[in-house]
Amino acid sequence: MRGRLIIYVLLIATLIGSAFLSLFYYLEVKNYEEQMLDIVAKTPMPAHHLVLISEELDHEYWKLVEAGAKQAEDYYDVFVEFTGPQNSNQDEQVRLLEMAIAKRVDGIIVQALNDELFTPLINKALVQGIPVVTIDTDEPNSYRISYIGTDNYRSGKLAGHALIADLEGEAVVGIIANSLASTHMQQRVQGFKDAVEDEPGIQVVTIEESNNSRVGASEKADKMLKTYPHITAFYGTSALDGLGVVSTVTALNRDDIYIVAFDTLDETLALLDQGKIDAVVAQEPFEMGYRSVGIMLDIINGKEVDKVYHTSTSIIRKEDLKNGFQIVNDYGQVEIRPW
Ligand code: BGC
Repeated sequence: MRGRLIIYVLLIATLIGSAFLSLFYYLEVKNYEEQMLDIVAKTPMPAHHLVLISEELDHEYWKLVEAGAKQAEDYYDVFVEFTGPQNSNQDEQVRLLEMAIAKRVDGIIVQALNDELFTPLINKALVQGIPVVTIDTDEPNSYRISYIGTDNYRSGKLAGHALIADLEGEAVVGIIANSLASTHMQQRVQGFKDAVEDEPGIQVVTIEESNNSRVGASEKADKMLKTYPHITAFYGTSALDGLGVVSTVTALNRDDIYIVAFDTLDETLALLDQGKIDAVVAQEPFEMGYRSVGIMLDIINGKEVDKVYHTSTSIIRKEDLKNGFQIVNDYGQVEIRPW
């Protein structure tokens, strides 16, 4: 009997204890929530919310664009939401554009990869009062207000002229583009072809797509060399294509093959330094990201802007590396790295 009484007392004490504990935690959480709401309410929100839609989220080239846009946040009263597909995918990019329109953001900065898919949506955004700036790849037939980025046709020409100069007008060329459905890739290929057109010693024998993957580029280079073993040069039209070609050429012991690649990624510059890549078309992705935000804010504030802002594009070779190149460090800051 006494034993039972003790059990009942213990049980009731435990119940009362846990009720108190629950009440205590409930009040703590409530208090914390109230404090957080207070902090959020007191934190000034940036005046404008922009979205920047890239080709690939986790890509070294696009990280430079992002770093540029984020640096602009320090100077303007703006929040830039940087987004893009995990892996290059035009349909996914279009879906992100649709989402940005549905969210009614204050401005959209988008890489307009393909006329057919992107123009209707860019126009839809404009009709709904959301200004659009294209970046990296333009869509001049749409209602986009401005473009910031490389003159892609000219960049292809630069690559062609570099190859002509370095190989003294003699080459059998294979081209690897990330996607032939993308406007900028078509322009980079066309610019190259136009540059070499009047060179009787230069022949473009084949063009393949890498699907914006270094493995893809490597496989295509391998396939091309099996079909056209007399290839003496490769032109990789986007950031990962040249890297893929180097893997294949190295594996096949064909270091004699000339490679002109795109973009100053760390690895590409290291390969240029080692003589595995011969020339690189350097773009200005950080600058594109940074200036795109300023242009968009000018538009929002009713200022006049140009229709096209071309960032600089140049050819670099091994000997140019001593001047150093911009990279994004582990803290997301841009530095000039000396070589
Ligand atoms: C292009 C980007 C592209 C990247 C992919 C760059 O050369 O300008 O549009 O997303 O390469 O690797």
